[in-house]
Amino acid sequence: MAIVYNEKTGIFTLNTKNTTYQMAVDKYGTLLHQYYGIRILGEDLNSLFVKNDRGFSPNPHEAGIDRTYSLDTLLQEFSGYGDGDYRLPSICLVNGDGSYAFCGRVSGHRIYHGKYTVEKMPYLQEQDGDTVDTVEIYLTDKVTGVDVTLLYGVFEEKDVITRAVRITNHGTKKIVLEKAMSVMLDFIDSDYDFIHFGGRHAMEHEYHRQPVSYGIQSIGSTRGYSSHQHNPCAILCERGATEESGDCYGFILEYSGNFLCEVEKTQFRQMRLNMGIHSQQFRWNLEVGDVFHTPEVIMTYTDKGLTSLTHKFHDVLRSNLYRGKFMNQLRPVLLNSWEAVYFDFNEEKLLEIAKASLNMGTELFVVDDGWFTNRNSDRSGLGDWEVDLEKLPHGLGWLSEQVHQMGLKFGIWIEPEMVSQKSQLYKDHPNWAYMIPGRSPVQGREQLVLDLSREDVRDYLVEKMNHIIETSKADYVKWDANRHLCDVFSDRIYENRQGEILHRYILGLYDIMDRIILTHPNVLFEGCSGGGGRFDAGMLYYQPQIWGSDDTDAIARLKIQYGLSFVYPSQCIGSHVSVCPNHQTGRTVPLRTRAITAMHGTFGFELDPALLSEEEKTMCQEYAKIYKANAAIMLEGDYYRLSNPYEQNAYTAWMHVSKDKTKAVVSMVRTESQGNALIYYVKLKGLKNDAMYELQDGRRFSGAALRKYGLPITWDIKEYEAMQYYLHQVK
Ligand code: GLA
Repeated sequence: MAIVYNEKTGIFTLNTKNTTYQMAVDKYGTLLHQYYGIRILGEDLNSLFVKNDRGFSPNPHEAGIDRTYSLDTLLQEFSGYGDGDYRLPSICLVNGDGSYAFCGRVSGHRIYHGKYTVEKMPYLQEQDGDTVDTVEIYLTDKVTGVDVTLLYGVFEEKDVITRAVRITNHGTKKIVLEKAMSVMLDFIDSDYDFIHFGGRHAMEHEYHRQPVSYGIQSIGSTRGYSSHQHNPCAILCERGATEESGDCYGFILEYSGNFLCEVEKTQFRQMRLNMGIHSQQFRWNLEVGDVFHTPEVIMTYTDKGLTSLTHKFHDVLRSNLYRGKFMNQLRPVLLNSWEAVYFDFNEEKLLEIAKASLNMGTELFVVDDGWFTNRNSDRSGLGDWEVDLEKLPHGLGWLSEQVHQMGLKFGIWIEPEMVSQKSQLYKDHPNWAYMIPGRSPVQGREQLVLDLSREDVRDYLVEKMNHIIETSKADYVKWDANRHLCDVFSDRIYENRQGEILHRYILGLYDIMDRIILTHPNVLFEGCSGGGGRFDAGMLYYQPQIWGSDDTDAIARLKIQYGLSFVYPSQCIGSHVSVCPNHQTGRTVPLRTRAITAMHGTFGFELDPALLSEEEKTMCQEYAKIYKANAAIMLEGDYYRLSNPYEQNAYTAWMHVSKDKTKAVVSMVRTESQGNALIYYVKLKGLKNDAMYELQDGRRFSGAALRKYGLPITWDIKEYEAMQYYLHQVK
């Protein structure tokens, strides 16, 4: 059992292979946080913590005249509200009598084998070979009867602990939750850097690293989705932590909606992290007997630096999150029509592209946006989901058959959550879209968002989408969402429940994805929200890959994919070769660089083959072959960042190494030309020092030499050019 409770001392010790997490119930029933770090020997650390009488840090009634006991200074697991702890709270609620207070004291616990579940939301699941144990700890407010259950899932071999919270109203009156965090983690010190990822549409997942400074720093989204602007994951690492060394704590929220991650450096230079649903516009009514479930957080710790943290996250996301068959399967090389033709196509043109793509190693042809009625631009058409028979007179099913007959799989694009005001659906059901009575709705790409908190809307979408997937005989579906939420008001919900809608929307989204995606276990789904606007572990529970960004420029993608790599494994990142000059940046980059960059993700093409020369098509075929030949290393192996593009302007390099360290693929791009250029030797990682590796040109070097000296970006590689080394162990 990875979880031990000591009755005498009241200590809970959670052990994974390399880490220990410790909590203690003190004499007043407060659940204290004692430790999270490298594995210890089970000792009680409580006597280490110095308690002083601190001015303006009040003492709870139970502590009597003991002025050294204050919830304002103790490390805790879940901070209450109105109990004298003035740091960031885990919960904020209005009780039936109007008071703002929650004072939770431990009232029991339960330890069991296996993993707890989270109702109607994503959560990590135990797989064959895993040892997973759970502890539930109950905190009760004796005055109101409100119960908080803290859930800890311990994935022993994976060095992962998951956290979630259930709040139950066991009182006699309705309560209203205004804040309910999934995880709180208190630290004894605060000399850490806060690493997080975010940017903007077409330049998301930028890497940000800032020292934790006095006060509160936060990232989050209030846009309805996890967003391009911030990603629901964070790392706290020791100031000097590098890829190879230093304490690192990582947190991933499995949620696709509004989120908040806040870090506070306190008056005594301690630190608190909170993560969960954003509290802005969140007001959840809990009637007597009702339970509120927070989304789950995946937590890991390592003392071995950022690469080790990445490997732990990649391993657990690859094996314990997504439930379908695709995650570790070789994905088909696709050709997507979007940047090839946008909305301007007909049957003939699509078939011409599909046919031409056969000589490029393509295995899946995807018809992106524009196949349905009134969709000649992004100004209309969403919601009705009828095939445009002017563009496709024989229908989608027929088109799909033609593509299948060429030996290709067939895919389509959908955007179920949206409606255009110029659509029949909107005419028939204007109240199905979010709008505030008396106000004209804010436009985003001239479309509105459907109210997924409504069951009738969800039923309509499930039926429509299932019908499209079935009649088009699709093997692949790209699920898009191209605006954020505004005017959030539902006419199905009573006035005082409007603060529930943003979360109910996400629950509704998870419900329809459950019903659509699980009905089609053989269909490969790819998530998308104007690129990576909803690139989160919540979506990855349903869909094994997400389009990384609308920016397909290989050089911009180096930074985007660098940011994603900290948490998300390569096979989750949609990445394609497009034409040059690039449609987003105007940059021209050699085809080889575009291909090598796309190999970091689910390799594919997004271009009109008619614009390629025969030689380029042959090159594409070659790259598709290389990708497939090495895909297993990338799908199952370990990922190493070999440079930081935010610090090193001259090149970007990364590598994938098979788990048994016998094979590796090293990718390098020169990102800046220099007069009399320097030779950069890129030091390799993850290889066995005492093994001999052979390169594709027959040269042999030991792992030790490759680690010490590395491999050069050769002289002939000019600005924006790329190269790859393939290594296999010979001795
Ligand atoms: C979004 C996606 C693109 C494309 C368009 C279609 O922007 O990110 O890849 O599918 O929608 O409208």
